Amino acid sequence: MSLLIDGIGELFTADDEGTVHYDAAVVIEDGLIAWVGHRLNRPAADEYLDVGDRAVIPGFVDSHAHLVFAGDRTPEFNARMSGEPYDGGGIRTTVAATRLARDEGLRENCARLTGEMLRQGTTTVEIKSGYGLTVADEVRSLRIAREFTAETTYLGAHTVPTGVDPDEYTALAAGPMLEACAPHAKWADVFCERGAFDGDQARAVLTASAKAGLGLRVHANQLTAGPGVRLAVELGAASADHCTHLTDADVDALANSGTVATLLPGAEFSTRSPYPDARRLIDAGARVALATDCNPGSSFTSSMAFCIALAVREMRMTPAEALEAATAGGAAALRRDDIGRIAVGARADLVVLDAPSHVHLAYRPGTPLVGTVVHDGVVMS
Ligand code: NIG
Ligand code: FE
Repeated sequence: MSLLIDGIGELFTADDEGTVHYDAAVVIEDGLIAWVGHRLNRPAADEYLDVGDRAVIPGFVDSHAHLVFAGDRTPEFNARMSGEPYDGGGIRTTVAATRLARDEGLRENCARLTGEMLRQGTTTVEIKSGYGLTVADEVRSLRIAREFTAETTYLGAHTVPTGVDPDEYTALAAGPMLEACAPHAKWADVFCERGAFDGDQARAVLTASAKAGLGLRVHANQLTAGPGVRLAVELGAASADHCTHLTDADVDALANSGTVATLLPGAEFSTRSPYPDARRLIDAGARVALATDCNPGSSFTSSMAFCIALAVREMRMTPAEALEAATAGGAAALRRDDIGRIAVGARADLVVLDAPSHVHLAYRPGTPLVGTVVHDGVVMS
C-alpha cells in the first residue's frame, strides 16, 4: 500500500542543512519514505493526501525526557517564580511520590505525556528512569518506559537518595542496580553536577554502563561549568545534555567530537536561568540538538515547538537551525539515521503544519500549528 502526500507548499527535509523545497510531494510505502521530489514528477500511488500548500516537516525527535514519575511540583515552580533558585533538590520529592505509585499510575502518566507529544508532532521520544533510585524501582521504571519507546535510558545516578552515603550509592548505581537495569535500557545517563554526582562518581557509573553494553549520555554543565561535558566527550557519549555553562575548552571539546550538544531551553525557561548559547556552539562546529527535558521539576513541557521558539528567540538560532536540531539533531543524539529527516529509506514520520512555512514554528509561538501527523507511515490525525 502506497500513500502520496501531495500539494506540499514547503518541504523541510532536514536532510540537507536546512534547504527547503517548494511544490513537493512525498510517497510512503510500508512505513518508509519511498520517493521525494517536485510534485510535477510525482508517481501514482494507491492513496492520496493533499495538504493544500501547507508546510511538511519531519516528525520531531525528542531525545531527552523523564516521563516515568508520579506527583506534581507546582509549589516548587511557584516558589521559583517568586525568586527561589533551582538546585535539583526537588528530584527527591518526585522520587518519594514515584516509589508510592502503582505501576498502572506510572503507565497512565507515560501514556498521557507520550500522547500529548504525538499530537504535537513528536514521533520519537527517549525516556529515562531516575525517579526510583532503588534497584526494584529503577527496573520497574525502565520496564514501563520500554512499553512506550525503544530509546530507554538508565538514570539510576540521577541524585543520591535521602539518608544514603553518596559513595555507597554510586557503587550500587555502577554495580547491582546497573546489572538489573541493563537488560531494559539502551542508554545510561548520569546527572553530573554539584549536589548530584561529581566527575569521579559519574565516570564510575558511565564506564561500568559502557562495559554493560549501554550507550552513554550525560546531564552536563546545567547549573555550573563542571566536568560533565569533557567527561561525555572523553567517554564517547552520544550526547552531552543541557550545556548551559560552558568554558571555551568545553566548546572546543564538543566541536572536535562525535558528541552532540543537546540543549534543553524548557529547563532554563522553568528555572528562570540564562539560556545556553547555541550560536557559540554552532559557530565552533559542534552538532546541536533540541529536546524538551519533559519532567515535573525543571521543565514540564511536552512541546518541541515551544523549544524551537525559545531557541530562536533566546539562543541565537535561525528557525531552520532550530528545526534541524529538533529533528535530525535529535536523531544524531540517539545515533539514529532512520529518523529525523525526510529522505528515501527513512521512516515515514512526518508532520503537516497548519502553516505555509516551518518559520511559523517560531514566528507564531504558542500557536497549535501541528495538523496531520504521520507516524511509521500511518496517518494519525
Ligand atoms: O534534566 N537535571 C537533572 N534532572 C532533570 C530535572 C529533574 C527534576 O528536577 O525532577 C533535568 O533538568
Ligand atoms: Fe533531564
